[in-house]
Order: sequence, then C-alpha cells, then structure tokens
Amino acid sequence: MNMVSSIPQNTDPFALAKELSGFHLIDGEMVKAVSGKTFDVVNPATGAVIGQAADGDEADVDRAVQSAAAAQKAWKKMPARERGKLVAECGRRLTEHVEELARLIALETGKALRTESRVEANVLADAFVFYGGLASELKGESVPFNPNMLTVTQREPIGVVGAIIPWNVPLMLMALKIAPALVAGNTVVVKSAEEAPLTVLRVCQIMNEVLPKGCFNILSGFGPECGGPLVAHPKVGKVTFTGSVETGKIVSKAAAEKLIPVTLELGGKSPMIVFADADLDKAVAGAVAGVRFTRQGQSCTASSRIYVHESIHDEFVAKLKAKADAMKMGDPLDEETDIGTIVSPDQMERVKGYIQKGIDAGGTANLCSALPDDPALKKGLYVQPVIFTDISADAPPSREEIFGPVTCVFKFTDYEQVIEAANDSEFGLAATVWTKDLHTAMDATQRLEAGFVQVNQNLVVQPNLSYGGIKKSGIGREASLEAMLEHFTHKKTIIFNMG
Ligand code: NAI
Ligand code: MG
Repeated sequence: MNMVSSIPQNTDPFALAKELSGFHLIDGEMVKAVSGKTFDVVNPATGAVIGQAADGDEADVDRAVQSAAAAQKAWKKMPARERGKLVAECGRRLTEHVEELARLIALETGKALRTESRVEANVLADAFVFYGGLASELKGESVPFNPNMLTVTQREPIGVVGAIIPWNVPLMLMALKIAPALVAGNTVVVKSAEEAPLTVLRVCQIMNEVLPKGCFNILSGFGPECGGPLVAHPKVGKVTFTGSVETGKIVSKAAAEKLIPVTLELGGKSPMIVFADADLDKAVAGAVAGVRFTRQGQSCTASSRIYVHESIHDEFVAKLKAKADAMKMGDPLDEETDIGTIVSPDQMERVKGYIQKGIDAGGTANLCSALPDDPALKKGLYVQPVIFTDISADAPPSREEIFGPVTCVFKFTDYEQVIEAANDSEFGLAATVWTKDLHTAMDATQRLEAGFVQVNQNLVVQPNLSYGGIKKSGIGREASLEAMLEHFTHKKTIIFNMG
C-alpha cells in the first residue's frame, strides 16, 4: 500500500462540493445513480445550491450490497490486526484531511467551523485510529465445560452491515458505526442523510485508497426510497441506525421482518440538575456546552431540560443568558463565528413551531445572541437561541425533542421531586448533575434513568466510552470495545472432544 494519500486536500469547500456532486461510492468506484437522478445540496447559510447528490434507490442499494457481500469473503479472512492496521491507516489519512472535511461539513450543515465542524472532523479521524488498535481484542473465551472437552468461544463478523446516519454529526456518527464494523470483519453500506451527503462521501473516497474495494460503500438518497431497501435487502445481516424515534420504529419493524439485529440511537430530552451547592460558574459553562448552543441544539444529547434550585435559579438564568448573548452567530465558515445555522428549512419550521408552542403555553422565551446582519446571510437558516423560563412541565418544548437551540429552565426546591421530574420522560439518553455533595451526586447517578450520566461536567461522546439510551432513546450501545463485540459480531461456541 502506498503510505501517502494521492488525494490532495482541497480546502475550498465550494469547489469540493462540485467535484463530489452526483456520485455514490460503490465497489471502489465513484458512480452515478442507476436512475441517473440527483437532488440538490443546499448551503443553509445562504440558501444557495452548492452541489448535487446521487439520488439512490433499490437498484443502487442492490449494487452496493452485492459488492459488500462479495468483499466480505476475503475481508473476514484477513488477520484481525491487518484489518485493524488498515482502519487505523484510514484514520491517519483522515487526520491529514481534517481541514477540508471540516470546511465541507460546515458548508453542508451550517455548523460553525471553529466551534463544531473542526472538532467533529477530528473525532472522526480519532475513532478510526481508536478502533484500528482494538482489532486484537476481538477475543473469545475458554470455558471450563468438561475436562475432556476443550470448549472455546470466538467472535465472528455478522456479514454486511447497513448503516443509516443522520445529518447533525454525520462524520462522528458514521465513524462510530463503520470503524468497529469493519475492524470486526464486516463490510458496510452506508446511507447518508439527505441534508449532508457530500462530506461523508469524501471520507469514503479517502478510505477507498486504503481498503479493498467493496468493503465500504456509500449511497445518498431519501429515507424510504434508499434507506428502506437497504434495511430490507436479504444480504444485509445487521442494521445500525441513528435518527428520529419515528424512523427508528420503521427501521426496527423492517429488521424484525428479516429477524436481523438492529442498533438504534434515537432521540433525547436530557435533564441537567443544578443543586444549590453547585459551583455556579462551572454549571453555567456546563450548560452552555450541554445545550449545544454552538450546534444550534441539534444534538440527541442536548441538555434541553435544566432544573435549577430556586435559591440560585435567577442568577443561573442571568449568567447562562449572558454567555449565550456573547456568542456570535454568523457565517459557518468564518473563524469568528460561534453559532451557525439550522440544517434545513424543515428543521427551521419545526424549531420555530416549538418556540411558538412554548410561548402559547405561557412560557417566557428569553431570546439570546443576535441574528447576523450580513446581507449575504439574509436567507440563512438562523434562529436566535431561546432559554424558556416559567414554562409548564407539560408544554411541548418541556417534553418533546426539538433538536434546536431551545432549552427549558425549571425551578425546584425538593430533591425527591426533581429526581422524579427528571425521570418523567419517554427518553433516557443522558443526564447531568451539578453538586459538591458526594451523597447527592451518588444517589442521583443511581436513580437517574439514562444511559450516560455525568457529574460536574458535560463531555460529548467519546470513542472509548459506551454510549446509548434507554426507554425511547434507543436499543444497544455505540463507541467502546463493548459496542464492537456486542453489536458487530456473533459469538460461536466450539467444543473439541478429546476423549
Ligand atoms: P430521520 O430519522 O427521518 O432521518 C435519519 C436518517 O434516516 C436519514 O438518513 C433518513 O434518510 C433515514 N430515513 C428516513 N426515513 C427512512 C425509512 N423509512 N427507512 C430507512 N431510513 C429512513 O430524521 P430527520 O427527518 O432528519 O429529523 C427529524 C427529527 O429526528 C429531528 O428533529 C430530531 O428530533 C430527530 N433526529 C434525531 C437524531 C439523533 O441523533 N438521535 C438525528 C437526526 C434527527
Ligand atoms: Mg425524517
């Protein structure tokens, strides 16, 4: 293998978007859709069309899955560490391309380059390096079954994995699916999100220099027309999905028809609790990170319900608002910009609808930051972040996932009541607690119904920490060694009778 990428880094995202326009990557080749159809990719900061994506359907899915199935025969026979080295090499080359990937994802999704997009591109590269190094941890066990029978278990790949990804953090979410799937000996077909098809295609192009053809294929297209046939394809043996609860149910039902395993990372309405003794400034900084102001709240883990002890409530809200006000909303590609845009007109409508519902329900909408005044951004999908106060716990913004720059701050007085309120949700993805009291911290972490609970910090997903939800937030876990073993392998038991 040539150890130097022959793909030069292209940091002009407008030129790169054009170069990538109209293609899937199937069987190692950039190919057009069988139907010849494409759809527009739009810059949410201006409304301008920046390129086209191949509009995939069942015929494209079949080509990609057949290629992945053929490639898997040799890929699974490769020694695990060799696979790991190739996946880690993908990570190394992706690191070389971080800047172009960051700029293109900023252009496609409207996420600010400095605060969001560059961070995400680095996480993508890091996830490949992390999983590449775990290849020899695909271990089985030896079982003391019978002294005359050597009994072992081994981990085997499932086959072809179908991965369906969303638009909010497509690079990170794709990496956390495909890197472990590949290292475990599976081959993969990804269906990208309609709103963000180009940067993930670029990732695939870079990986294509390293991986044998067909190991990793990527399709763009719409959910029912392209994602649907991928889940239903008879040669897909496992589906991993991140997106909405509604689509998650459709995917889960289709997988059940075939009786194949499915991992679902769905929505959230994650609570953050700030107790009276908390370090207020740290809690405010944690809330800024947790609400994901810089990502316009477009995160499944967003701290969208914040419970603050009444003794510090007003001060907390004032400090949080001041921090949000100090953030600059603007062109996602500008290094000065803290907050970019909403991803699409549909999401914009949805977010605005929820803000209106909160106001109609009697909540106080504290508008933060300021819309950009640059006339070039006049048609951009900018929304001022909203901190709701005095809002009822039953109002739609208090209960439903908005996936926008909106958080609801509630006052509490009683410990038992706040734990109950925090758990009174159909979701259970993440939770955060701020207190200096060890007993409170320990008790709350035990009782909060969530897959990921943090005390006195608000980190984002890490490649080496198991991540996922309970209740309607999903089924299964991503990231970590455990996710690779449990979600991308079968366990086979083998007995040698020596008697
Ligand atoms: P979605 O769940 O409809 O889309 C996610 C992915 O699923 C996309 O690639 C889409 O093409 C695909 N898809 C849609 N319908 C499908 C079908 N019938 N079969 C197979 N694949 C299908 O989410 P959407 O419409 O982008 O956003 C709606 C809401 O979903 C957001 O407002 C947010 O609340 C939630 N969401 C949650 C995410 C998370 O990280 N948990 C990510 C994206 C959205
Ligand atoms: Mg949808």
